[in-house]
Amino acid sequence: MTNLDVTKQAKAGVRKEVLIELNEVSKHFQLGRRQSLKAVDQVSFHIYKGETFGLVGESGCGKTTVGRTILGIYPTTGGSVVYDGKDISHLRGREELKSFRKRAQMIFQDPYASLDPRMTVDDIISEGLDVHFPNMPAKDKHDRISTLLMRVGLNSEHGARFPHELSGGQRQRIGIARALAVEPEFIVCDEPISALDVSIQAQIVNLLNKLQNESELTYLFISHDLSMVKHISDRIGVMYLGSLVEVTTNNRLYAKPMHPYTQALISAIPIPDPDKKEEMGRIILEGEVPSPINVPPGCKFAGRCRYCFDRCKKEQPSLQQVEDEHYVACHLYDRPDSLPGIKRKIFKED
Ligand SMILES: Nc1ncnc2c1ncn2[C@@H]1O[C@H](COP(=O)(O)OP(=O)(O)OP(=O)(O)O)[C@@H](O)[C@H]1O
Ligand SMILES: [Mg+2]
Repeated sequence: MTNLDVTKQAKAGVRKEVLIELNEVSKHFQLGRRQSLKAVDQVSFHIYKGETFGLVGESGCGKTTVGRTILGIYPTTGGSVVYDGKDISHLRGREELKSFRKRAQMIFQDPYASLDPRMTVDDIISEGLDVHFPNMPAKDKHDRISTLLMRVGLNSEHGARFPHELSGGQRQRIGIARALAVEPEFIVCDEPISALDVSIQAQIVNLLNKLQNESELTYLFISHDLSMVKHISDRIGVMYLGSLVEVTTNNRLYAKPMHPYTQALISAIPIPDPDKKEEMGRIILEGEVPSPINVPPGCKFAGRCRYCFDRCKKEQPSLQQVEDEHYVACHLYDRPDSLPGIKRKIFKED
């Protein structure tokens, strides 16, 4: 079976192999002696081999911290990250980290800031090759860079240029080529298209899709915009203030969002069909996101939730499977039978 077949099968749901598993992963940043900021708080989910897992949520909810924690850039405060069957949360030593970094790479939001302006494109792409393949002959390296540039839709002529001589889209292509240079199997794409013109965004999404099909890549695709992850993700996780509130397949999330926060996000996506829009209605989120330094007890979303009841203010809900491939952290779904009124309000069809 070719790699492409495996990817297609994974996409078709025939065979799913877990590549990455997060088990109650927390990352708290210590601020001074007394305060700590819960950037990521007991987050659990898994990513299948060959899929694109979209991670969405408002600015500051902890998406980048999840990505960096998976890559070992941040050590975890608690929980474990299992990568291809191995616990990598406490990788120690240069060699161990180095061999892991070859398998897992990152693409950044801002192609302007993430490329060194004093280096040529060739040098930027060479960097990773020099670390991971120090004995590669110069000619092989040159050929490899040319091939990489072509794979990302550029050509070897671009190798001699500096980042400021390239457009935003071209710079992001260089960021992608740099990540691909060491032939990783997993890439954290941290808002890779948010800084680009709308007309260029689709091109970069198409490129990421093409590369995924060619090389059986697995992506964690981070975005603050639900409409952006729609076109690229197989499954999606929604974060709120350091917690994962809902995880499900792309289709289910848009057709039947279950967490009140997800429902509000989805209702805010502009849809062209005015009748459908009317039917769904727009949910206006009131109030502010609480501070991650002073997280209130109970559900973190309780203060802004229109379905909030007593228990929500006292007890933090955990992520539970409520339907096939659908996980939600919300007390509404713990005992739905006892809350028929609320359930009816959420699903008009019930
Ligand atoms: N190195 C750090 N030290 C202290 N606090 C941090 C650090 N990095 C992130 N944070 C805090 O952790 C929280 C989560 O940040 P993170 O960058 O992961 O959010 P994000 O969801 O990626 O946001 P954005 O959409 O703006 O990129 C924020 O409150 C942020 O201020
Ligand atoms: Mg971020």
